[in-house]
Amino acid sequence: MKNILYKSLEESGKILKSYMDKDFAVESKDIVSNLVTEVDKRSEANIIDIIKSEYPSHNILSEEIGAINKDSDVKWIIDPIDGTINYAHGIPICCISIGIEKAGEIVMGGIFNPFSGELFFAEKGKGSYLNDKPIHVSEESVLDKSLLVTGFPYSTGNNPNKPVEVFAAFVNRDIPIRRLGSAALDICWTACGRFDGFWEYNLNAWDVAAGYLILTEAGGKVTDFEGKKYSVYNKEILATNGRIHNIMLDVIKGVKK
Ligand code: IPD
Ligand code: CA
Ligand code: CA
Repeated sequence: MKNILYKSLEESGKILKSYMDKDFAVESKDIVSNLVTEVDKRSEANIIDIIKSEYPSHNILSEEIGAINKDSDVKWIIDPIDGTINYAHGIPICCISIGIEKAGEIVMGGIFNPFSGELFFAEKGKGSYLNDKPIHVSEESVLDKSLLVTGFPYSTGNNPNKPVEVFAAFVNRDIPIRRLGSAALDICWTACGRFDGFWEYNLNAWDVAAGYLILTEAGGKVTDFEGKKYSVYNKEILATNGRIHNIMLDVIKGVKK
């Protein structure tokens, strides 16, 4: 499956690059700020065609078209552009993310930013790689020396203040925090040690499926905001180098009370 994963990422990478400086259609989805572009749809169609030509019986879960259920134990979980708002504004911080779930476990994942040329890849039990070189999480164990990253949901829904309150709790400790606008890249950049920890509310399986495996295979730790076992179908994610995990958890739980 690795060759099909790579082919999908690389071919969609060409699509993202070829449309970047051109006019393309942009629409709002459920709320006005949640965008989908013509390029998301082209990237998605490309990936699905490639997967179907080799594995017609596999299940697919993809952000823009939803689920294609074939009763297989393999599911390809696809985000055709993660960081669509960046892409729509000409900001080259975005990627294509594809995770493969087998019998309920993520077994392979790849994330490609065609603008930086960085391709992150992991296979269960075989480590994580950035452009074929092994990567590892950072060794930072002091929260106050850490560099963190987060994102904010398009809609804060029933919980309007919580993401901002948690953000404020870290900011008020004078901890530097970045906001890249692509959850998949946030996780990859934590996996390769650029960031020490990442948290976000309200993500979907396509945002995190590949990144979850890339981070854990790089030695990192992922839980929900209670510190419990994580599933890519969870809405909340705390993904760290492992060393600062419980300290970040305490800050988040402190706000939750
Ligand atoms: C979004 C990005 C962003 C995160 C949003 C996601 P999209 O994905 O990952 O960083 O903050 O919650 O929905 O819409 O660009 O695929
Ligand atoms: Ca996404
Ligand atoms: Ca997307």
